[in-house]
Amino acid sequence: MKALLLESIHPLAESILRDAGIEVDVRTGALDESELIDALRGVDLVGIRSKTEITPAVLDKAADLKAIGAFCIGTNQISLDDAAGKGVVAFNAPFSNTRSVVELAIAEIIMMARRLTEKDSSLHDGVWDKNAKGSHEIRGRRLGIVGYGNIGSQLSVVAEMLGLQVYFYDTDDKLAMGNAHRCDSLDELLEVAEVVTLHVDGRSGNAGFFGAEQFAKMRPRSLFLNLSRGFVVDYEALRDNLQSGHIAGAAVDVFPSEPKKRGDAFTSPLQGIPNVILTPHIGGSTEEAQEDIGRFVATKLRDYVDRGTTTLSVNLPSLTLEARPGGRRISHLHLNTPGVLAKVNSILAAHGVNIEGQLLNTRGENGYVVTDVAELPDAAVEELRAMPETIRLRLID
Ligand SMILES: NC(=O)c1ccc[n+]([C@@H]2O[C@H](COP(=O)([O-])OP(=O)(O)OC[C@H]3O[C@@H](n4cnc5c(N)ncnc54)[C@H](O)[C@@H]3O)[C@@H](O)[C@H]2O)c1
Repeated sequence: MKALLLESIHPLAESILRDAGIEVDVRTGALDESELIDALRGVDLVGIRSKTEITPAVLDKAADLKAIGAFCIGTNQISLDDAAGKGVVAFNAPFSNTRSVVELAIAEIIMMARRLTEKDSSLHDGVWDKNAKGSHEIRGRRLGIVGYGNIGSQLSVVAEMLGLQVYFYDTDDKLAMGNAHRCDSLDELLEVAEVVTLHVDGRSGNAGFFGAEQFAKMRPRSLFLNLSRGFVVDYEALRDNLQSGHIAGAAVDVFPSEPKKRGDAFTSPLQGIPNVILTPHIGGSTEEAQEDIGRFVATKLRDYVDRGTTTLSVNLPSLTLEARPGGRRISHLHLNTPGVLAKVNSILAAHGVNIEGQLLNTRGENGYVVTDVAELPDAAVEELRAMPETIRLRLID
């Protein structure tokens, strides 16, 4: 097996794959389409971050490619359906930077409550402003978390440890962590919270869901944070509420349109307003998160190669498999049409193959069946491969 890791992926990924006996080629930059097509000849696994695009043309030419590791959160750079159609499984790292976002949110809540950015810039300007007015502890404050998923629920735990009273609202029915109080509506949360922080996902229905009406419903002199997605908030409305003093401070990490690279121009209606912390989408950007992404995705690639495990794949059915102590394992990705499992089993039965274990899962147009057997004649393999529904057949010995 050969892996190609692009875009300066954390070295832990390389060592995990090498330890699994996989040959690894590491490159620092991204590749364009034609470079990538050349580089993927004879490559089984590819690791990318956000800048390398796995297009339908790349997938068409990458005959040996079996799995893609997106060593990041987003997977928009991959043609996921085309990859699934060719039996190429894709993984990402959806949770690795959760803690980093939580820590930034906590830091920003304290910074805003103490108006630290103002104290800091005054002192840099030579002004000694030792005044307690408008500076508060966060202990006992009511924190309202909107979106109680991976990040929201972990923030809930850490915030409670610091003495905040946590209220949350989620469109799904979520288990309350610790002593957190579930709100039945966003309005209920806005009525009570002194700090409101958004951790909703990027579904299209969330576009502009937090605007003038919601800011008006927030308590006077409360604080606001958005570390989720830029397009969910009306920042003009936030600016108006900051300027009127209704909102006492804001921390914003994500914007509707973000510069592509360092040095590109950035403008926002929130620039230049006191007690507003603006950060360039760095909520999840820590060395710890990068290392965990390297470990998480490389482990997924290794377990797919070694066992056929597709747990948390973003494009193919999920199966979690134990290591196989002996015998042979048939990993069979196929079109999800009625009768495929019966066909697989009748081919095996016709060749006198005894099935020792079998797992099946489906996802949309794709099915994945993994079958453990003691012996497997070549003729049975050829017949399985020749089934019109077969997308990819792989033997794991
Ligand atoms: N700033 C950063 O660097 C950074 C890093 C990682 C993640 N994020 C973003 O943070 C957000 C949360 O990430 P996560 O991993 O916790 O996601 P998640 O999918 O685990 O949780 C999102 C939660 O929001 C809820 N939700 C969706 N729309 C809602 C609405 N309108 N009102 C109330 N609840 C709603 C969902 O039911 C879900 O429980 C995502 O948008 C993600 O892209 C930002």
